[in-house]
Amino acid sequence: MTNDKMKLPSDFMFGLATASYQIEGSTTASGRGPSIWDTFTHKKPFPIADGSTGDNATDSFRRWKSDIALLKSYGVNSYRFSISWSRIIPNGGRNDPVNQEGIRFYRDFIEELVKAGIKPCVTLYHWDLPHTLHDRYGGWLNRETVDDFVHYAKVCFQAVGDLVKHWITHNEPWIISVLGYGYGIFAPGRSSNRERSAEGDSNAEPWIVSHNLILSHAYAAKLYREEFKPTQGGSIGITLDCVWYMPYDGDSPECVQAAQRALDTRIGWFADPIYKGHYPSSLVSSLGDRLPKFTPEEIAVVHGSSDFFGLNTYTSNLVRPGGGDDFNGKVTTGFVRPDGTQLGTQAHVSWLQSYPPGFRALLNYLWKTYNKPIYVTENGFAVKDENKLSIPEAINDVDRVDYYRGYTQALLEAINVDGVDVKSYFAWSLLDNFEWADGYGVRFGVTYVDYDTQERFPKKSSRFLKEWYEEHKAS
Ligand code: NOJ
Repeated sequence: MTNDKMKLPSDFMFGLATASYQIEGSTTASGRGPSIWDTFTHKKPFPIADGSTGDNATDSFRRWKSDIALLKSYGVNSYRFSISWSRIIPNGGRNDPVNQEGIRFYRDFIEELVKAGIKPCVTLYHWDLPHTLHDRYGGWLNRETVDDFVHYAKVCFQAVGDLVKHWITHNEPWIISVLGYGYGIFAPGRSSNRERSAEGDSNAEPWIVSHNLILSHAYAAKLYREEFKPTQGGSIGITLDCVWYMPYDGDSPECVQAAQRALDTRIGWFADPIYKGHYPSSLVSSLGDRLPKFTPEEIAVVHGSSDFFGLNTYTSNLVRPGGGDDFNGKVTTGFVRPDGTQLGTQAHVSWLQSYPPGFRALLNYLWKTYNKPIYVTENGFAVKDENKLSIPEAINDVDRVDYYRGYTQALLEAINVDGVDVKSYFAWSLLDNFEWADGYGVRFGVTYVDYDTQERFPKKSSRFLKEWYEEHKAS
């Protein structure tokens, strides 16, 4: 099939993605309470590469109308963003007061979006846990937070569920659990991996956190399906961060097994309970008692709790047995082939190489393994730019255009040639923004942001994506 014949399905959602803490700023405005990312970024010594915080970010709490205008100019039909829990319930808990100003903000924003013909795809939790819950009982380490999350989700369904037809409970639970509670490089900065392994009780916390995240997703989905879906008619699911893991040497049984172990750990840890009803057996046997158990009542709620597979993916990895840790299936991952050549094109962050065939293979794997429609909720390319590039240089983002050219082509092939059921593609990100531990020096946006003036400048990649969608959308 020639490229110009490959089409997107008629109900396909094409858009851009962001997250509250990365763009909103105004962290004390209109009754918002602090989240664990506020307290984490303000710690000394600074945990963020450039010592920055999300205090201002891209100022989108105040500039939301111009963000919507930008989205419109890019020709998208949908937008994925997240709600900040601590704007809605400043202290987070199910018995704490709801902040009407926070509700008003998202209600106004979503109404305007819908008026502009852009469908909202809303993430409930993109990492910004109300700090009070962390202080009160350890946040995600405590089962209490599951009930708090379900209550928060309910408040959101009530407030904007008439306008929102696509809900995502959690964004990337692997990252939350491992980077936040295993390595300590993301909020809340707990490094149980290092501390506990000295005591011979290695990395207990991430498994507890992930278990609670899965439960909170499942009980929020149950509530949605029982109390809101019948009248609101939307769908609900979870977004997982997936890397396509390939055997380093192509086909040796050791490397094939290692790659499968890596997939089981990165993806199956969350996807298997949700789509199959149990943790992967490789995890059960390697972790023993450290892996919490679902009661029969719980697993009945968890199994089948996602209407779709939400997929964030950026890269692929070559895998060999040995090395690594429990969080990747005890394998060594890399980008260099046995003959010394590189797998793909290196982005400006160490973890990302562009390798479009890996994206196509991943889509096929997820479709076959989990058999659910796939929503690509993030995909993108990083450029390091500590304000050294001029604006004309920065907006001429040819490397990012190459990345999107390859990945969108792989997407079309997965849909049109392989028959994978893909329902959305959201590029990350609408704007350059606060890139977590990397601060503002790493830019993923299709729009350049001048952080001194907050002016926005569309990059070449925004034009590429707009034209690509025009060419391939269903006629
Ligand atoms: C995934 C995360 O969801 C998003 O917040 C982050 O900025 C991008 N990856 C890029 O690292």
